[in-house]
Amino acid sequence: MPETKNRIKIARSFGSASNSYDVSARLQRFSGKHLMPWLPNRNDLTVLDLGAGTGFFTDILAGSYHRVIGLDFSKKMLHFAQKSRNNNIHWLEADAHHIPLQDQSIDLIYSNLMIQWCNPLEDVVQEILRVLKPGGLFIFTTLTDGTLYELKSSWAQVDDDRHVINFKREQELLAMFDSPRSKLLQHQCQDIVLEYENVLHLAHELKGLGANQVPAKGNKGLAGKDKWQKMTASYQDFQEPGGVYPATYKVFSGLMVKLSD
Ligand SMILES: C[S@@+](CC[C@H](N)C(=O)[O-])C[C@H]1O[C@@H](n2cnc3c(N)ncnc32)[C@H](O)[C@@H]1O
Repeated sequence: MPETKNRIKIARSFGSASNSYDVSARLQRFSGKHLMPWLPNRNDLTVLDLGAGTGFFTDILAGSYHRVIGLDFSKKMLHFAQKSRNNNIHWLEADAHHIPLQDQSIDLIYSNLMIQWCNPLEDVVQEILRVLKPGGLFIFTTLTDGTLYELKSSWAQVDDDRHVINFKREQELLAMFDSPRSKLLQHQCQDIVLEYENVLHLAHELKGLGANQVPAKGNKGLAGKDKWQKMTASYQDFQEPGGVYPATYKVFSGLMVKLSD
């Protein structure tokens, strides 16, 4: 039940960012394009974009594949996608933990920077394996532990609340995708460091993406403004000689195949 409530909050947060998302999505554009070389070079496939957001990559997939479905649990994201993208895409409002598609009906699932929001992720992986045909592919990016460590450690100087979501460790992902039912054919880990004029710029970008909803975040201690000032003062320790503020994103990309039963 708490997980369902968290998902509703996450969906709302992404929904409220549907109009600002595309201008803030520099990391998402980079990571999504990075997956392109792994896409199969044949067009007779049924493809699912899991966590399609504003549909930027769903639209690219629809340019190459026979049947493309864009799934997201945010109604507003889907509304934005529907009015801005190719009209041969099938849009599906659903939670990745309960994909309303038949067993073994999908050839390829593409998912860019979505699964880090899923809890328990194991349930989503089971759904992915259920809807994929044997030999079907899951091509994805996610973020791993250490992402936004500058922000996390700056907040740790202020209080012990959770201000950054819990990202999985690389080893946990490897164990989850290399299983008796699936094999991770390729994977890559990359540190992407984005630069910000100040900490407010980083906070605005996360809000513009809708990526500022942290499940079960506490709210105790000093008043918001005091906490914020203390945190930004700590973040100064990371300021680079040129004056910019870095934020590190640990991007994990994977190409998994579903094995035959
Ligand atoms: C960071 S955005 C990425 C969007 C898109 N893939 C892109 O590359 O721009 C994450 C998206 O996943 C969706 N999402 C998060 N958790 C989800 C879930 N459990 N089921 C369906 N969609 C989910 C959010 O609503 C949001 O649109």
